[in-house]
Amino acid sequence: MRFEIVTLFPELFDALRTGLLGKAQDAGTIDVEAVTPREFTTDRHRTVDDSPYGGGSGMVLMPGPFAEALDHLDEARGGNPTRRVLLTPQGARFSQAHARRFSELESLTLVCGRYEGFDERIRGLVDEEVSLGDFVLLGGEAAALAVIEATARLLPGVLGNEQSATDESHAEGLLEYPQYTRPEEFRGEKVPDVLRSGNHAAIARWRRKESLRRTLERRPDLLEAAELSKEDRELLEEIRAEP
Ligand code: ADE
Repeated sequence: MRFEIVTLFPELFDALRTGLLGKAQDAGTIDVEAVTPREFTTDRHRTVDDSPYGGGSGMVLMPGPFAEALDHLDEARGGNPTRRVLLTPQGARFSQAHARRFSELESLTLVCGRYEGFDERIRGLVDEEVSLGDFVLLGGEAAALAVIEATARLLPGVLGNEQSATDESHAEGLLEYPQYTRPEEFRGEKVPDVLRSGNHAAIARWRRKESLRRTLERRPDLLEAAELSKEDRELLEEIRAEP
């Protein structure tokens, strides 16, 4: 899958050379191309922003250099389709469902702003707008990195173990159960006996119950939306009946 980024700070995306995403780039599973609108300016100062019409403080990113950067990417892709996503606190809240949908695409183009607002006409160049959450970053880059990581880890071959992409928190709308490794006792806290019992059915039941407990305690909103089996409902009854 191809990830394209339009950003004033393309060097931030060198971070994707690290770890599993670096390996995925080396293997050709993903391909990352960051371009800067500054390259598509025509003046000596390589200006990408200007003062707002109507007055007021701050500067506004101009549509021209962004449009040219997007045209350049379209050409480099040889006319193959992409989906353009603007990172902004005004967008729809990014979720695992977005990551799943994006991971089905051949190409995703992420458009990042910095410091200031976009000229409204930049919004007209994209297919959708996404926010990382209800807080304001200095720019869309950290959000774009998060979107790329959440999407790329769902692609076949990016995680070593195919199972892990589906097992974890949010994959089925529940939070993950607690995990333990050695030592058996750490600073007075012991690993739950059931996990050392070798009884696979009992372990699976314990994990499901703890996953439900954690979701009930921390994210009851997720539990509302989750598809629960009859056994899940029984486990929840047990949890609620506990002192
Ligand atoms: N740019 C600035 N803040 C952002 C946020 N919360 N999500 C996505 N992009 C942003």
